[in-house]
Amino acid sequence: MKRFTLCFAILLSLVLSACSSSKVASSKEWTKITNGNLWLTASGDTVQAHAPGFLKIGDTWYMVGEDRGREWRPDVNLYKSKDLQNWTFVKKIIENGVTSPDLGKSRMIERAKLLYNKKTKRFVVWCHWEASNYGASEAACFSSDKIDGTYRIEWSGRPLGIKSRDCNVFVDTDGTAYFISTTEENQHLGLFRLSEDYLSVVEHTQLFPWQKREAPAIVKLGNKYFMFSSACTGWAPNQCKLSWSNNLKQGWSPLENIGDNKAFRTQPAAILEIKGTKTTSYLYVGDRWKDPNLAQSKTIIFPVTFTDTSCDFRYRDSFEINFKTGEWRETTKP
Ligand code: DGJ
Repeated sequence: MKRFTLCFAILLSLVLSACSSSKVASSKEWTKITNGNLWLTASGDTVQAHAPGFLKIGDTWYMVGEDRGREWRPDVNLYKSKDLQNWTFVKKIIENGVTSPDLGKSRMIERAKLLYNKKTKRFVVWCHWEASNYGASEAACFSSDKIDGTYRIEWSGRPLGIKSRDCNVFVDTDGTAYFISTTEENQHLGLFRLSEDYLSVVEHTQLFPWQKREAPAIVKLGNKYFMFSSACTGWAPNQCKLSWSNNLKQGWSPLENIGDNKAFRTQPAAILEIKGTKTTSYLYVGDRWKDPNLAQSKTIIFPVTFTDTSCDFRYRDSFEINFKTGEWRETTKP
């Protein structure tokens, strides 16, 4: 009888521990993303990676962005995270005036974006490479053989001689990469096809002529491209607009207002794809600039749901994402 009781107790404790560990595992599958606060690293430092660009390698997100710690003349920092919430500082990949001393010490290095070239196996950064009065209207390209290696300057200047400011990158499903920027004194958007090694610009297509768009971010769903962009109002937020096309170089739909008239006090930086076993979700990443100053600008993330020709663009104080299945849901508990 005693032996039977002992066996029963062991069995019961095994069952209970299995139940409790599966509960932990399943709740861990959902990550709560909360907006509005300054992002801090585990060591308590402010995450300085504004107007960020992202690259996912395995289950790790890498993020590059503007180090606005001293507000002006930003450097470019690299961070990594597995959940878009807990960020670890990797290194400063571009140091103003040090990485490329011949290009001057007081550049406004903005909107750095990260690419990986499968053919050359190099990590490539494109960014807006500006003078303090925004008169240079240049871009720059850096590359490294390791994500956390030494980034060397590859090129800087006006792409194909065209004045270029706010920028982003987009890699199509066939591996062709594009640099997209606000051109000719903020009048148009320029879609620049990059060379096979992603290190230079080889072709220009003008998009949205005279429509004064900046902060572009492109995502592809099936065969359709969607683009978010803002108007040009300095650091002040404005209406985010959506356009879609079946062809990157032509046929973009008229710009359509999405969300509220201030993009929930943000400006587009990226659209992330969360590909899972069940579905793919899309997360908008925007900058809440000068909140209250440039160094403390916030990075805001919320899910967007695309329909055939539009999208549901709605801010949330928080939401939950399942990186395994790709699903997102409203926050279940406060
Ligand atoms: C808005 C741009 O999107 C930012 O990247 C920055 O260039 C500011 N303008 C400067 O006013």
